Amino acid sequence: MRIDIVSLFPEFVAQCAAFGVVGRAGERGLLALHGWNPRDYAEGNYRRVDDRPFGGGPGMVMLIEPLRAAIRAARAADPTPARVVYLSPQGARLDQAKVRELAGHERLILLCGRYEGVDERLIQAEVDEEVSIGDYVLSGGELAAAVVVDAVARLQEGALNDAESAVQDSFEDGLLDCPHYTRPVEHELGAVPAVLMSGNHALIAKWRRQQSLGRTWQRRPDLLDEAALSKADRQLLAAYRAELAAQAAAGVAETVSRLDPAVAAAGETGRDPGASA
Ligand SMILES: C[S@@+](CC[C@H](N)C(=O)[O-])C[C@H]1O[C@@H](n2cnc3c(N)ncnc32)[C@H](O)[C@@H]1O
Repeated sequence: MRIDIVSLFPEFVAQCAAFGVVGRAGERGLLALHGWNPRDYAEGNYRRVDDRPFGGGPGMVMLIEPLRAAIRAARAADPTPARVVYLSPQGARLDQAKVRELAGHERLILLCGRYEGVDERLIQAEVDEEVSIGDYVLSGGELAAAVVVDAVARLQEGALNDAESAVQDSFEDGLLDCPHYTRPVEHELGAVPAVLMSGNHALIAKWRRQQSLGRTWQRRPDLLDEAALSKADRQLLAAYRAELAAQAAAGVAETVSRLDPAVAAAGETGRDPGASA
């Protein structure tokens, strides 16, 4: 996959992509990153890339021409058609489904804005879609572009040492990932769940599925509304919830007996602890 970054700071994105899985994807020839600086296409002694907004108001707006020339240079650098994505807080919110879709393109051109943003006419003419990395405003599109590069690079075939790990990640099947453990088995912070040490792959898969379902229910119930749960999933989730409720009840009973043994004893015998003998 080839990704071209149109930015006043293209080396910023390249730096972010130099490490770990994404860096390795580059070394393995699975990802080629190219930077295009609109300032190199700006005219005049000052190589201006921005100007004041018409209608007044604060800040500056990125000029059409340097950006258009940079995008065109990026397009022309490779005959493969490219999808042009403008990183913008006004775009569709990035999620794993969108990442998968973007990762499926042979070429992307990521346009990074600065200042108040980009002249709207440039967006209308050159941009295929706008993508946001969340409902907050960054000072520039470079961090957002780095997020896109990272997320799509790790999905390139051969980028991860074990392709299975991407399939098991959060959001891939609409659920959050299960918890993970490694050595040591026993630690002062707790023990590894026994099922993971059982060697029984079917049981482990079932436990992981249940943890995924349970965590999603606890942390992101909105995802569960969208997920297509099987009957077995529903049973696993019901068991998870029952177990949690039992643990909570046991916790309450334990606290009561610690704070007031008389009340706890009465609870067990059904007697009123305030009543005289
Ligand atoms: C200060 S922002 C401009 C915000 C713009 N005035 C608005 O309110 O929509 C400058 C640049 O940062 C990038 N940016 C800011 N927040 C972003 C986000 N949540 N997702 C993606 N890009 C973002 C965009 O490229 C944008 O052009």
